[in-house]
Amino acid sequence: MPEIAFHKGEFVPLKDASVGVMTHALHYGTAVFEGIRGNWNEEDETTYIFRLKEHYERLLSGCKLMRIKVPYTVEELCNITKELVEKCEYNQDVYIRPLAYKGAERVAYLDLSKLEDDGFTIVVVPLGDYLDTEKAVNCCTSSYRRMEDYIIPPHLKISGLYVNSILAKTEAIVAGFDEAILLNQQGRVSEGTGENIFIYRNGKLSTPPLIDNLLPGITRDCVVDIVKNELGFDVEERSIPRSELYLADEIFLTGTAAHVQGVGSVDNHEIGDGQMGPLTRQIQSLYFDIVTGRNIKYSHWCTKA
Ligand SMILES: Cc1ncc(COP(=O)(O)O)c(C=O)c1O
Repeated sequence: MPEIAFHKGEFVPLKDASVGVMTHALHYGTAVFEGIRGNWNEEDETTYIFRLKEHYERLLSGCKLMRIKVPYTVEELCNITKELVEKCEYNQDVYIRPLAYKGAERVAYLDLSKLEDDGFTIVVVPLGDYLDTEKAVNCCTSSYRRMEDYIIPPHLKISGLYVNSILAKTEAIVAGFDEAILLNQQGRVSEGTGENIFIYRNGKLSTPPLIDNLLPGITRDCVVDIVKNELGFDVEERSIPRSELYLADEIFLTGTAAHVQGVGSVDNHEIGDGQMGPLTRQIQSLYFDIVTGRNIKYSHWCTKA
């Protein structure tokens, strides 16, 4: 497969897409990124890139906050990405990583407003399951808390913010769990390290509101739509105390990388019978059909490449 990146305005061999050791973003996390999936459909031998426009809208919001100039419109970014995926010729699921960063080669300097040489790169890598969509994973609640907006805004994908997720994920894995669930400063459920969370209890499906310090996930938004349009009920947005996790009939996580991922236990409390629950399975199946271009009702969410 040709390993190609989009870097500094050109399609170049991946090995040539590099930055210097003085790069501001490398030292301080002054970058904004996206995670986009291209889902391979074997029958029509096409990659369906999912909700490309929404990902770039979120990226550009992050860039505005971080004062990173990206010299492209959302439409141009979508076209560049489609072209890059086509050039890479992968016949499998891919993960697309755009990164907009403070490219100035300058250290001991913290004022974003005067830094120049902003950079923009997109790479594409093959990516199958991120967790394990066939089974239910075991989670813990993290000792790390989700960031408040007045510390680092958690609703944007700012690179430096992800140290919080990385510490939580590592703590969970080292302790023998598959994934961590972070609470916010008030002790309410916020989200996974790279996923939003839904709980199903007493016939109601709920997810925490954005005010509880989570990323407004694009998959979360899809699930809210799918549940309303395909299953005929509404997802309730409400704050969720930690103990409700232990009492849930089903829990699932959502994210571009993780798709719709069942949870079998939290802090060693079994959820339901510890397997993926029937509602989770149903939503996961509807979701997979949509992201692989098999449900034409949602074809406006997919870009063919
Ligand atoms: C912290 C965090 N929460 C939630 C999500 C899910 O967001 P999305 O569905 O847009 O991928 C992600 C992944 O991007 C994430 O990093």
